Amino acid sequence: MSSIALSDAEFAQFQRFIHEAAGICMSPSKKALVCGRLAKRLQHWRLQSYGKYLELLCSGSAPAEVQMAVDLLTTNETYFFREPRHFELLRELAAGARGGRQPFRVWSAASSTGEEPYSIAMVLADALGASPWDVLGSDISTRVLQRARTGHYPLERTRHIPPAYLKRYCLRGTGPEDGTLLVERSLRQRVHFMQVNLNTTLPQLGQFDVIFLRNVMIYFNGETKRQVVARVLSALKPGGHFCIGHSESLNDVSCAVMPVAPSIYRKP
Ligand SMILES: C[S@@+](CC[C@H](N)C(=O)[O-])C[C@H]1O[C@@H](n2cnc3c(N)ncnc32)[C@H](O)[C@@H]1O
Repeated sequence: MSSIALSDAEFAQFQRFIHEAAGICMSPSKKALVCGRLAKRLQHWRLQSYGKYLELLCSGSAPAEVQMAVDLLTTNETYFFREPRHFELLRELAAGARGGRQPFRVWSAASSTGEEPYSIAMVLADALGASPWDVLGSDISTRVLQRARTGHYPLERTRHIPPAYLKRYCLRGTGPEDGTLLVERSLRQRVHFMQVNLNTTLPQLGQFDVIFLRNVMIYFNGETKRQVVARVLSALKPGGHFCIGHSESLNDVSCAVMPVAPSIYRKP
């Protein structure tokens, strides 16, 4: 626990900081979380107050520290095959595209530590056979992306992977890697990770057949949601599908896609 107190005024500055950096709206209930998560950064820099740390972040002289603070203030909860209905849909769509010459492309637009894009990759590898496909995983946090690129997970985090996929696409660690699982190399080679901040203009990513934007809109306010969804949908092919988290909604956010099932939309 930090012995340095975070004042309401300092917390308000952190709320502004993370909103400007990532579009994230942090509620007042997050004050203790901010205090706890950033305490070690104050220790690292030997700073006596959160105000001094904010000065450092806003000085423009420590971009790596700004990234570190963003990493620490984002919530990265995820797991393999979360919200399974989306993976059933993906299987149907991919099976329909089997035999095509163009790669079937899927974007996991807030991929966190990689469980979502690797779940997508397992379904595509299975349903598309030898047909080409690729997956892009992106996130604002460089820390989660580093972990995602390894494709290496503790076994207890992999219990939702269907047994047949575990057998075909995952390697169980032995010896010093006991208790871990590595996503098979042929899959890892087709899943690319890159840092993308959805709250700013997107880089050129090409067009996708399916986009997953799940469990990230909950952190945005209405205006940010509208801007993020418009940006993301500009990368969806006409006829492409868009999946959002089950607790999220596109009401008053976008009419560029039509609902086809709960939390699943299609671009006309
Ligand atoms: C709760 S995780 C969701 C992971 C996965 N999509 C799922 O549903 O399991 C939310 C992710 O969104 C990322 N995120 C938050 N703001 C973002 C932004 N502005 N741009 C890109 N990613 C962002 C966080 O870093 C975090 O990894």
